[in-house]
Amino acid sequence: MRFSGKRVLIVGASSGLGAAAARAFAGQGAALVLVDRDAAGVQHLAATLPDATAIAGDATDAATVAAATAGAVDILIHTAGIDPLSATDVPGTSLDDWQAILAVNLTSAFLFARAVLPGMIDRRCGTLLFTGSIAGLKPTPNEVAYSVSKAGVIQLMRAIALDHARQGIRANALCPGFLESVMADRKGAMTADALAARSEAAAALVPLGREGRYAEMAALAMTLCDDAVSGYITGQSIVADGGMMLA
Ligand SMILES: NC(=O)c1ccc[n+]([C@@H]2O[C@H](COP(=O)([O-])OP(=O)(O)OC[C@H]3O[C@@H](n4cnc5c(N)ncnc54)[C@H](O)[C@@H]3O)[C@@H](O)[C@H]2O)c1
Repeated sequence: MRFSGKRVLIVGASSGLGAAAARAFAGQGAALVLVDRDAAGVQHLAATLPDATAIAGDATDAATVAAATAGAVDILIHTAGIDPLSATDVPGTSLDDWQAILAVNLTSAFLFARAVLPGMIDRRCGTLLFTGSIAGLKPTPNEVAYSVSKAGVIQLMRAIALDHARQGIRANALCPGFLESVMADRKGAMTADALAARSEAAAALVPLGREGRYAEMAALAMTLCDDAVSGYITGQSIVADGGMMLA
């Protein structure tokens, strides 16, 4: 199997992309450490997989980072993210929302990278996969803090790729467009009508005419973390958006 003997840390594993990645990597023999603030969700997911440890906690907390990175990590996938509806353009973004979005989407990625890199440097191998967004490449209207956080993640990834390439470490970012579900922190705040309108808007805006599937993102994540396939790819933002960036 592709990831036998590999220990994979997934941050933001309870739902969406992270949960799909957990299932996909588990199916290819990986041992998993799964982190999420949704304690019931991450514990339930870990219990359904053959070799998975759940760490329930906030991905911005030093204690969570320390608990999750206590052993060797071969592959880090950071996909925890928030995009609250309350944060819009600059005048419409509170300082609290700005700081929360930056903390989860960017600072947490830095904290986990900082924790796993020394071990990877010692072993002279390791792969980091961050979750950007097309919002990090081209701002999404009325999502300033989210767009800035994703641009920051992409530049964090590029800096790590550059600084640690000679130590056998690769870093890349997966940059989705519209995925099949809005993020968990938005879903609860949206009516059924608003969710349906979002799906219709996605279908209209995406040249391929549909939202991306989490299973597709998980398969791409495996490709980007598999040295046999992507061992010469580092520092890249891989856009998976059904062609949205073309329009
Ligand atoms: N859904 C989309 O359309 C879309 C589009 C582009 C990019 N993305 C990015 O993909 C990634 C995954 O998105 P998703 O659709 O799977 O979202 P999701 O909300 O389903 O999953 C995110 C997970 O992160 C967890 N999380 C959030 N804040 C946390 C914190 N402080 N500590 C620990 N866990 C925390 C949530 O509980 C959740 O399980 C995100 O980084 C998102 O920005 C999503």
